[in-house]
Amino acid sequence: MTRAAVRDRVPLIERYRDRLPLEPGDPIVTLVEGSTPLVPAPRLSERIGVETHLKFEGMNPTGSFKDRGMTLAVSWARGKGAEAIICASTGNTAASLAAYAGRAGLTGAVIVPEGKIATGKLAQALMHGARVIALRGNFDEALKLVRELTQRHPIALVNSVNPFRLEGQKTAAFEILDEIGDIDALCIPVGNAGNITAYWKGFAEAGAGRPRMLGFQAEGAAPLVHGKPVAQPETIASAIRIGNPARWEEAMDAVTSSHGAIRAVSDQEILDAYRLLAAREGVFCEPASAAGVAGLLKYGADDAKRVVCVLTGHGLKDPQTALAHAGSVVPCEPELAAVERAVLG
Ligand code: F0G
Repeated sequence: MTRAAVRDRVPLIERYRDRLPLEPGDPIVTLVEGSTPLVPAPRLSERIGVETHLKFEGMNPTGSFKDRGMTLAVSWARGKGAEAIICASTGNTAASLAAYAGRAGLTGAVIVPEGKIATGKLAQALMHGARVIALRGNFDEALKLVRELTQRHPIALVNSVNPFRLEGQKTAAFEILDEIGDIDALCIPVGNAGNITAYWKGFAEAGAGRPRMLGFQAEGAAPLVHGKPVAQPETIASAIRIGNPARWEEAMDAVTSSHGAIRAVSDQEILDAYRLLAAREGVFCEPASAAGVAGLLKYGADDAKRVVCVLTGHGLKDPQTALAHAGSVVPCEPELAAVERAVLG
């Protein structure tokens, strides 16, 4: 399709129907996701010496790329007559599930690590009416438990172990190719490793451009970098605080087949990129989303000429981290002289 489709925000199932696995009779549950902006990043481009664009997935209906997968997974679940859906989540999948379940008239439940998900995501999951279960454990334990639970009960599992999720998420690769054509490298944060797998599938199916897949994990949650699970993953980027990714093999295959790499970035490097994106490019993403840019800044892009960084979620999801790492407000008395001092410094 053409740029007109981007402007008109056609729901992605409609836009890419012929490349998606839904049956003709399946209902389509959509909030008009996808067609997110590909924002040129002049400051980053200058700094790295490579033409860099930001695929701002925070512009999806619930503020993250998860909506691409959720429209497919929930349409599939409705089509097969499911009444309830569930996921384990570090926050964004929970927010997305909750919205699409509400929309579809399904019961939604989410299991999240207690105290470890960003405030905005929690507010979304609750407002959209899902049952929110705070597990006294981490994401990896939550995923193991929902897998067991869905084997015993007729509840559809919509984590990215569900192939429909990846089918939906691969459309982001189609959009990049439709909009700017071939790129040399894709920088992307990696947690449960579904998204890097989905992008690679999308690029491979499109046939044309096959960029190097450059995946980045947070140093304290980098099982793919170390080649072994991390029992107690830790990072400020709570969305990717994952120690044993479900799509481990597929992600490593994407990296190997594309001559890419999986590398680690520190929390400090993530925060630096997070602030740089907000303050210098005008794009506010959440901390995990900045991992790809942190990686690009740290390692460069080899001989790539044109790079896309995927900014997976919106900065407003996590106001607490933002406030803790941004400047402070200037208090002021309601008098002109005081305002002058406050404004002019
Ligand atoms: N960025 C954000 C903002 C995320 O929420 C996630 C994953 C990722 C990157 C990593 O993507 O897992 O496909 O490798 N969030 C999941 C969740 C785990 O539950 O919301 P991945």
